[in-house]
Amino acid sequence: MNLNFLTDDLLIKTNNFDGPVIVTGAGGCIGSWILTILYRSGIPCIGVDLSDQKDRLELILGKETSKIKWEVCDITNLKLLKKVITSYNPSAIIHLAGLQVPFCSSDPALGARVNVEGTINILEIAREASIKRTVYASSVAALGMPPKGPWKETLYGAYKLANEHTAFVYWQDWQVPSIGIRPNIVYGLARDQGMSSKNTLAIQAAVLNESYQIPFNGKYSWLYVGEAALAFITSISKDMTGAHVFNLNGSCETIENGIHMIKELNEKADISCANQLFPFPPDLDDHPLRKHIGNYPSISVKRGIEDTYKAFWQLNLVGRCPALPE
Ligand SMILES: NC(=O)c1ccc[n+]([C@@H]2O[C@H](COP(=O)([O-])OP(=O)(O)OC[C@H]3O[C@@H](n4cnc5c(N)ncnc54)[C@H](O)[C@@H]3O)[C@@H](O)[C@H]2O)c1
Repeated sequence: MNLNFLTDDLLIKTNNFDGPVIVTGAGGCIGSWILTILYRSGIPCIGVDLSDQKDRLELILGKETSKIKWEVCDITNLKLLKKVITSYNPSAIIHLAGLQVPFCSSDPALGARVNVEGTINILEIAREASIKRTVYASSVAALGMPPKGPWKETLYGAYKLANEHTAFVYWQDWQVPSIGIRPNIVYGLARDQGMSSKNTLAIQAAVLNESYQIPFNGKYSWLYVGEAALAFITSISKDMTGAHVFNLNGSCETIENGIHMIKELNEKADISCANQLFPFPPDLDDHPLRKHIGNYPSISVKRGIEDTYKAFWQLNLVGRCPALPE
């Protein structure tokens, strides 16, 4: 069994890539999708992660996972990270490694080391190696800062905002160019942790015929992971100047309509929603990002839900659909 249908029409042309691409946080949800798209498009790529666990990548890429070059490295270890990255003479870095909201909250100092110091290490390596294509994951949570605005304040958001300011100074002082992307709520196969993974878990629950309540209702950002992956990849398809930051929202759709679409795929699905509003804006504008990096495909909520459902369903048939987290 393979799930190539997920990425068949997301593959990209190789002509804008003249060297290997380093992907940090490669074992995560977005990293696994990016590696799958790069590898299946024929673009040399290397995954870097704290762990050599490739479960998420295996879900998406299947047996070919073993062909992906992989380096186990803690991004807070500058000396080792520099050695690893420069050994490949990369033309681009996609920096995703990080700890999400609940992990930053339970261990703030570790959160700062990984999310802030880790990003400084990436920029430092880009500076020394004169890498002209660095994109890093900020987050919509950065909009919660400075405090007392309309959106939720989190340590995670504070760390992500610090990265954006750091990237600005790396450009101002040393002409290290970068793009920071602030994804909103990513959903799709392999999205299995973090406060915003609940709409994906609902699709998974529908396949497993388990009851599930999404804690949120109302308007929501539905950013299909394949679309998010393409935004990161498109960002490194040409040399950069400046230090830019962009929101990445995907589609705005209500949770209620999302549940309706899930029920169209399985009328017995027992999925409901509670009545919290997600504490970040659901309808940010992606046009500034698309204008800056060039266009990339949009994936409708209907298609994103259908593809995700079909993927979990096929995995379930062969006993490989992951269990819902506790
Ligand atoms: N998923 C979303 O909805 C979303 C939204 C906004 C921003 N982001 C950001 O995008 C990035 C990727 O998100 P994701 O959903 O793929 O995350 P994820 O949690 O699925 O994966 C993160 C990866 O980073 C790795 N990692 C953690 N600490 C590390 C370290 N010290 N050294 C090396 N690797 C380390 C983990 O092992 C994991 O594989 C993150 O920076 C996240 O903050 C994600």
